[in-house]
Amino acid sequence: MSKKNIAVLKGGRSLERSVSLKSGGRVEKALRELGYRVEAIDVDARLVRRLKELKPDAAFIAMHGSGGEDGTVQELLDILGIPYTGSDVLPSVRCMDKVLTKHIFVADGIPTPPFYAFNRDAFQQLGAADTLPYIGEELGFPIVVKPSSQGSALGIRFAHNVDELPAALISAFSFDDKVLLEKYVKGRELAVSIIGKEPRTLPIVEAIPKSEFFDFESRYTMGKADYVVPAEIPGEVAATAAEISLKVFSVLQCSGFGRVDIIMDEDNGLHVLEINTIPGLTETSLMPMAAEADGIGFNGLVEEVLAAALESA
Ligand SMILES: Nc1ncnc2c1ncn2[C@@H]1O[C@H](COP(=O)(O)OP(=O)(O)O)[C@@H](O)[C@H]1O
Ligand SMILES: [Mg+2]
Repeated sequence: MSKKNIAVLKGGRSLERSVSLKSGGRVEKALRELGYRVEAIDVDARLVRRLKELKPDAAFIAMHGSGGEDGTVQELLDILGIPYTGSDVLPSVRCMDKVLTKHIFVADGIPTPPFYAFNRDAFQQLGAADTLPYIGEELGFPIVVKPSSQGSALGIRFAHNVDELPAALISAFSFDDKVLLEKYVKGRELAVSIIGKEPRTLPIVEAIPKSEFFDFESRYTMGKADYVVPAEIPGEVAATAAEISLKVFSVLQCSGFGRVDIIMDEDNGLHVLEINTIPGLTETSLMPMAAEADGIGFNGLVEEVLAAALESA
């Protein structure tokens, strides 16, 4: 059997470009070790031309954030008829948008912190700023202010009182036209990775950042966070976290792989923050740690994610 050709898509122009280059580099190496022929593409205006020349058997999308994780590249690959890893267009579009995702969580009974959301027009044209005291009373402080469509904690600010809300909102609006104001949940951060054609969970990872929260720096700088895998939490809580995460994955119609971010509060209650359809695959990323703990390792993770894409072709 001749070796399959796989195009690894990485980079792009999102703010998570540097993370994607690292994820992509590791995926390329893994695929070569697994015996595939690999072409790496740093995604830019030549993408479609390159793909038409290469005619790969599949594309491994190692991109995070806008352009790569939000359905844009997936749409092009659909048009070109090239199978690709991870979720289809619809779940990619939905999961990239935290506001939309959280409305779906609420509709489907998935526990998620209470929230309000605004777009820029509501602020600039409808006087939404006047609702901030009400929101402060409803949610209590601190309030987590986030751009709706970002990753790696970019643009996230904590407002500790009503006076800090405007600056936090302005910061979030500099990343996106839509922002989310979310109730702060004090607790432990759990990441539940999901993989496979028949989706299953990998061992849960607890991230223990050394700063106020799990921000960009604590994620990608060695030593700025501690990780415990499998997370040392009661067995029944781990089972519930796995069950909720599989439900999130299925409700949002995700496929291939994904990672659900959860906060476990002081009473062991679980609160889902989001699902990532293309989890980070860098040296310090959570899903690769889960794969090591599971025993499939990084190469096993890559092989299984690719197999799901090739099978669905
Ligand atoms: N409601 C919340 N309560 C407490 N911490 C939060 C909350 N929302 C976000 N955080 C912190 O911000 C980080 C990033 O938030 P998340 O919603 O997962 O967005 P991102 O897509 O940037 O990862 C979390 O890992 C956590 O440290
Ligand atoms: Mg997250």
